[in-house]
Order: sequence, then C-alpha cells, then structure tokens
Amino acid sequence: MGVSDVGSGSFDAMPEQPAASARALAKKPISVQVNGVFRAFFMVGLLSWLCACVECPRVPGLSARQCESLAALALPPSPPPARGNRVADDERAALFGFELFFDARLSRDGTVRCASCHLPERVFGDGRATSQGLVAVDRNSPSLYGAAWHRWQMWDGRADSLWSQPLLAFENEKEMDFTRLELAHRVKASYRASYEALFGALPALDDGARFPPRGKPGLPQWEAMAEADRTAINLVVANLGKALEAYQRRLAFRAGRFDAAVSGAQTLTSGEQAGLTLFLSRGCGVCHSGPLFSDDDFHAIGLVDTPPRARAQGLVTLAASPFNAAGAFFDGEKEALPAARPQDEGAYRTPTLRNVTRTGPWGHDGRFETVQAAVEAHWALAPHVSEPLTTTELEQLVAFLGALDATDPPLPWNGWPDR
Ligand code: HEC
Ligand code: HEC
Repeated sequence: MGVSDVGSGSFDAMPEQPAASARALAKKPISVQVNGVFRAFFMVGLLSWLCACVECPRVPGLSARQCESLAALALPPSPPPARGNRVADDERAALFGFELFFDARLSRDGTVRCASCHLPERVFGDGRATSQGLVAVDRNSPSLYGAAWHRWQMWDGRADSLWSQPLLAFENEKEMDFTRLELAHRVKASYRASYEALFGALPALDDGARFPPRGKPGLPQWEAMAEADRTAINLVVANLGKALEAYQRRLAFRAGRFDAAVSGAQTLTSGEQAGLTLFLSRGCGVCHSGPLFSDDDFHAIGLVDTPPRARAQGLVTLAASPFNAAGAFFDGEKEALPAARPQDEGAYRTPTLRNVTRTGPWGHDGRFETVQAAVEAHWALAPHVSEPLTTTELEQLVAFLGALDATDPPLPWNGWPDR
C-alpha cells in the first residue's frame, strides 16, 4: 500500500479492508497503530505540501513554469497611464465626455450616439454581429470596458490612442457622419462652459466665412479654409476626444474571479482549471497573453477568405492622421509610429478575452454566433495542437473563458446618464 492510498482511505473503512497491510496493522498494539497512522498522515501532508510548491497549488494540472506565468495574467488595479492626453484622469473631463458619449445631436440626422453601438446594458458593445449606424457597418462593435487597457484601438489598430479614436466614429459616413466643423459648432452651442474650463477659449466660430457650418478633409468647404483655422478646429476635436477618453477610462474593467484565483482568494472549479491548463498548454496564450489575454498585436489567422488589408491599411490611415502619437495634438513627448511589417497584411488585433462570454457575437465581423464556435475555429490555429478538440475539452475551455469575466466599472459611469 502506497502512502497516498493510506491518505485516501478513512478510519471507518480500514477494519473492513482485507488488505494484508491492514491485517498487519491489526496485530500490532494499539499505540503503535495510531502512531503509524499519524506518521502516514504526516508523510502525506508533507508530500502534498512539497508537491504544492513544486507544481501548482491553485491549479494542480499546471507545470511549475505555467504556474509561475499565472501571476503575469492577473489584472493590475488600474489601466496603464493614458498616452498623449493631459486631461485623461481629470474628473471634469470624464463628466464632459460622459455627456458627449450619449448625445445623439452629434450625428448627421440626430439619431446616432456613441451609445447606439456601445450600450451600457451590453457591456458597451451592441450584441450585433456587425453594427448599425446611419447605415450598416461591416465590423463588430467591441466592448469598451477593455478600451483603456488596449495599446491600439480598432480591429486594425488605425488609432494609436484612445483619444484619437472618436473622430473616426463621428466622421464615418456609415456611423455618425458628423464633420469636425459641425462638432465644433455644436460644442459652442451646447457645451461651451465645460469645454472652455478644461481647454481654453474656442475659436471665433461666429465668423461664418472662416468657419463654415460643415466640413472635413476632402470636402471643399474644409479645403478652402485657412491652414491656421483648420488647425484650430482640429484642436477642438482632439480635445473632445480627450474628454471621451477620460470618460472611457472610468469604464475600464477591474479584476474578477480569475484574478482572485491567482492571488489565492478564490478557487477555480475543476472544469475551469482543466480549461486553463488546456489554454496554456495548447498555446492559446501565445497571442492571448498578459492580463488582457491579448498581446495587443495583430495576427492574420486566415479567418477571411480574401484577406482585406486590415492592419496593413490601418497603418496607412494612422500615418496620414494629424492625430497620431507623432503629431502636434499628442500631449507630452511624441512617439514614433511603427513600421509596416509583412505580417500586418490581413491581420486583426488579438481581442481581449476578458468578459468574452458576454461580448458576442464574436470575431471582427461577428461571424461566430457562439463562443464555442469561436473557440473551435481557433483550436486549429493554436501552435501546439495536433488532435481535434473533444467535446469535453471544448466545455473546459469555455468554462475557463467564463472565469475571465472582469468586474464591471461602478455607477454612474456604467449606466445611462440621468436626463
Ligand atoms: C454605428 C455604430 C458605432 C458608433 C455610433 C460608434 N461606434 Fe465605436 N465602434 C464600432 C465598431 C463597429 C467598432 C470596431 C471598428 C473597427 O475596428 O473598424 C468600434 C470601435 C470603437 C473603439 C475601439 C475599441 C477597441 O477595443 O478597439 C472605441 C474606443 C469606440 N468604438 C468608441 C466609440 C466612441 C467614443 C463613439 C462615439 C464618438 C463610438 N465608438 C461610436 C461601432 C460604433
Ligand atoms: C496566432 C494568434 C492566436 C492564437 C494562437 C489564438 N488566438 Fe484567439 N484570436 C486571435 C485573433 C487575431 C482574434 C480575432 C480574430 C478575428 O476576428 O479576426 C482572436 C479571437 C478569439 C476569440 C473571439 C474573441 C472575440 O471577442 O471576438 C476567442 C474566443 C479566441 N480567440 C479564443 C482562442 C482560444 C481558446 C485559443 C486557443 C485554442 C486561441 N484563441 C488561440 C489570435 C489568436
């Protein structure tokens, strides 16, 4: 009988066991018996304690190396510092951004707001495969709980900061179709005090000859403007983006059950543990790495039949934008833009897997109706996979993904504004 067998047997069961060792024990004086049993228990305790150190105390299936890597997956208490935005953590800016986010007047026909596709009740996604703005959009709306954590915005990373993203939505003809000149005029009419308290005086927008009602790059009204006036308008919209970033930083998700398990405050179920073991051993973590379960990098994983340029095009758009991290509107030290790489062709950003069971449909174009379907499609991509995924493994992986739910941000940020 091995030491571990003694450990798993109970005192009650022992007298009935016909095993030779049990009979041998029965012949010995009672004190020796008790002594032996205690020694056995002591050994079991010692061994399991040693095993716990060598292997993984909280997730028994993991190797020592995988176990060590768990600490790097825990979510820090707050998202990384904002880049290029001096008002990113200013509460007044967050409140101003809060109002802008829910204001449908900031769209061509007054019907679309940011919240149309990023709904508080849908973890700030929209639950659709692809979004609907003024007309249909061809991509899936990501949950904004992860936005403050991500280095790149959009599936193709065409915005390199959170504050430079909103103008892409405002001016997108399919989404809000509201030009930067219209934005500036609307701010003057409705938000002048909030704006000027944070960013200083608005330009002389009353001068209709200098500042026509509508215009953006490509439209003749905009191109006819003086360079300095165009810069003044660009500054206004960059500032609106900075207020919207301040708001979205308040939406950042926080540590959840998985993080509590890493710190030892909670335990994962055995199914979740098995899923985690699979996730790490099958190489999902190569791309879905770090506290977001995203490497914040771009991968062409062949989910498109005719790959559009994706990240490769995103870099072209980024380089042409005056709002990029190398540009004049980026507060503080400017940053160099990344060089294009061959692997950017057809590549999309690895999405965070935090909250993933709540953010369907899945994929950049919402092609996966269930998280199971997304996992199955990914299985073949994982570097260390040679065998097909079994039903049990699929269940375990999905159970583990469920443990990645993060804690929602607090009210009032997490809800609709009182109006
Ligand atoms: C018509 C629907 C729609 C509207 C309106 C809309 N969005 Fe989005 N949003 C999307 C879609 C779709 C994407 C993904 C686009 C892509 O990657 O090309 C996205 C992406 C984003 C991202 C990037 C998130 C990430 O993880 O990459 C942020 C941030 C964001 N939107 C914020 C906003 C803000 C702020 C507004 C208002 C100014 C807004 N959105 C308006 C649909 C919308
Ligand atoms: C080579 C990098 C890479 C590997 C390995 C990888 N993924 Fe992904 N994952 C991605 C990318 C990129 C996307 C976005 C794909 C798209 O829609 O274009 C994604 C999307 C997903 C999604 C959908 C998320 C969403 O919000 O839409 C899930 C779920 C997922 N991966 C799970 C897994 C699992 C489980 C594994 C391991 C079996 C895995 N991934 C392996 C890069 C990877």
